[in-house]
Amino acid sequence: SVDKRTEALLSKMTLEEKIGQMNQYNGFWNVTGPTPIQGDAAKKYKDLRKGFVGSMLNVRGVKEVRAVQKIAVEESRLGIPLIIGFDVIHGYKTLSPIPLAEAASWDLEAIKKSSEMAALEASAAGINWTFAPMVDVSRDARWGRVMEGAGEDPYLGSKIAKARIVGFQGTDLSKENTILATAKHFAGYGFAESGRDYNTVDVGTSTLHNIILPPFKASVDAGVRTFMNSFNELNGIPATGNSYLQRDLLKGEWEFDGFVISDWGSLVEMIAHGHAKDLKHAAEIAANAGSDMDMESNAYVHHLASLVKEGKVKESVVDDAVRRILKVKFELGLFEDPYRYCDEQREQNIMGSKEILDASLDLAKKSIVLLKNEKHLLPLKKQGQNIAVIGALANDKTSPLGSWRIAAKDNSAVSVLEGLSTYNGNKIMYAKGADVALGTPNFITEVKINQTDKSEFENAKQVAKNADVVVMVLGEHGFQSGEGRSRVDLGLPGVQQELLEEIHKINKNIVLVLNNGRPLTLGWADAHIPTILECWQLGTQSGLAIAQVLYGDYNPSGKLPMSFPRHVGQLPLYYNYKNTGRPTLPGKDVVFWSHFQDEQNSALYPFGHGLSYTQFEYENLKVSHKNKEVHVKVEVKNIGDVKGKEVVQLYTRDLVASVTRPVKELKGFELIELAAGEEKIIEFVLTDKELGFYDNNGVFIVEPGEFKLFVGGSSKTVIETSFEIQ
Ligand code: IFM
Repeated sequence: SVDKRTEALLSKMTLEEKIGQMNQYNGFWNVTGPTPIQGDAAKKYKDLRKGFVGSMLNVRGVKEVRAVQKIAVEESRLGIPLIIGFDVIHGYKTLSPIPLAEAASWDLEAIKKSSEMAALEASAAGINWTFAPMVDVSRDARWGRVMEGAGEDPYLGSKIAKARIVGFQGTDLSKENTILATAKHFAGYGFAESGRDYNTVDVGTSTLHNIILPPFKASVDAGVRTFMNSFNELNGIPATGNSYLQRDLLKGEWEFDGFVISDWGSLVEMIAHGHAKDLKHAAEIAANAGSDMDMESNAYVHHLASLVKEGKVKESVVDDAVRRILKVKFELGLFEDPYRYCDEQREQNIMGSKEILDASLDLAKKSIVLLKNEKHLLPLKKQGQNIAVIGALANDKTSPLGSWRIAAKDNSAVSVLEGLSTYNGNKIMYAKGADVALGTPNFITEVKINQTDKSEFENAKQVAKNADVVVMVLGEHGFQSGEGRSRVDLGLPGVQQELLEEIHKINKNIVLVLNNGRPLTLGWADAHIPTILECWQLGTQSGLAIAQVLYGDYNPSGKLPMSFPRHVGQLPLYYNYKNTGRPTLPGKDVVFWSHFQDEQNSALYPFGHGLSYTQFEYENLKVSHKNKEVHVKVEVKNIGDVKGKEVVQLYTRDLVASVTRPVKELKGFELIELAAGEEKIIEFVLTDKELGFYDNNGVFIVEPGEFKLFVGGSSKTVIETSFEIQ
């Protein structure tokens, strides 16, 4: 068995070899190239030969992977194979929509398929471990990494975490087309103060247990084999050195038997946090707290052996970590065949294959959210129209790839213009209008009005003048969201707002197509632009998906996984807020209730919102009790004249509880498709799992009492009833 083989191997290892398994190096050097290997890389090669490296990240492509694996397997004393890690966040070479966009599909099967395709392509390039999914819940769109998650809700986030993990890992990790998944970042990273990346996280136990942790627990339940801890401190203790999180909860209570990788350099960062006095101290804290593998801090490889000899870290702690790592290597089948992911022919056949492209297009269409459709400008007529297309993003083949696209080539996405050109009944006239942003991926700066070529503005106005419909493609550059890309202003970047307003003066028939990695503040657009389509960053097939939705060949079905604020000052903003003691006061001119003087409390577009080219009606919401379960039935009817999909959402509110509960919590959803005029009865079952919550000691409890129940097509538009549990 795997356990016996692990023990047998462990018993042959020296302390240094064991610690080597806990060491991960970045491999950004050309393994097979002619460059002479010097400095840091030379040291890494030496360690590889000594068996002091357990894993490498960022070595990619069969040729390169085979070369490093060969050193580990054929030149080190015990020949233990490496695990090859990579950030396969939304695809490898072929990109699917950014994870936040995928979440907007609420389509768990399609999301699973997307991860399956990512695993297929990445594994064909020699990779066997992805640092995904990011399951951090976040309520703050200023945080650039919201693009990488599933949004603001722990229930939806848990379901999506499972779909992604099962997609990556499949049912048999030893197959050459499956890869290890990582639930990250454990924990609290999405709650960085003011949305500033890497910032302090200080949350209460109720938020920790009810909002932040559920997707991580769901990941363990889904069989995820690795966890990544996080850069942030959580209530004063850096996550990497957090024994409560990693030992008590994850490996203790949740019985997780995979291993924990640190985030990049997160051990050494404990010094800057003010928690470790030096790198050796950091190694001691991290190892004792349950961080099994060190990503690029070089802390274990340098200091763990002396810490064991000095008795500061028990050898059993090292053994436990190594056991976990070796076990996963056995599960991957690497001991049977360390080169099982290294087949050049397979790499060639699979990269960018039709199956992968089709899945990417399928999910890209499903991820699009119709925010507003007045005047019924959409779907576009297919014949005889003059269509003006305005905005640099319409002609951009890189931004739709979004952030985290290390292996995908620049200019490899289908642009909106290219997508529209697959339809030939209309006349398309294009003008850029203005750039979105300037600079390189690492230094994106926004365009200022004085940098804008006025003739581009004028040209765009001319083009708009004679159009039946103006499609304006605006939003963020592909690298304006993602890691390290926090923003304080969530309006349209650069001069795009001015461009929109100028064009609006000339032609009011505007369809605003948004490309962005996070919720934006769209107050002006909502007040003036009749039709708004949220198209995120949809990956390689972006333009095709957008064109098919614009022309009505796909009826939009996405729903927002994050609230869109009216103003950045509302953040953090989320639909499952608490009522407060002063939710509202009757009468005019009353100051003393929980509100802003200059803006509404509510979201502009709430969580769960998304329209269709048809409409749905909800009726006859009924609740009954069977044993300890609550059964819910509702009738949903397509009252429009085209077929469409709807995400039927169920929310509850626990009215009185020992720890206050949110005004609404998503507790069920179903994605359905109805033909025009068709009606369906949808059923949900609520059990203790949905009706209980974690108290302030992290204990799950179910309390008797009255609940409200809401069903509808968003967290706002709902019909409601109530029920009681004993
Ligand atoms: O996986 C990532 C992580 O999410 C952020 N820091 C770097 C890691 C490896 O690239």
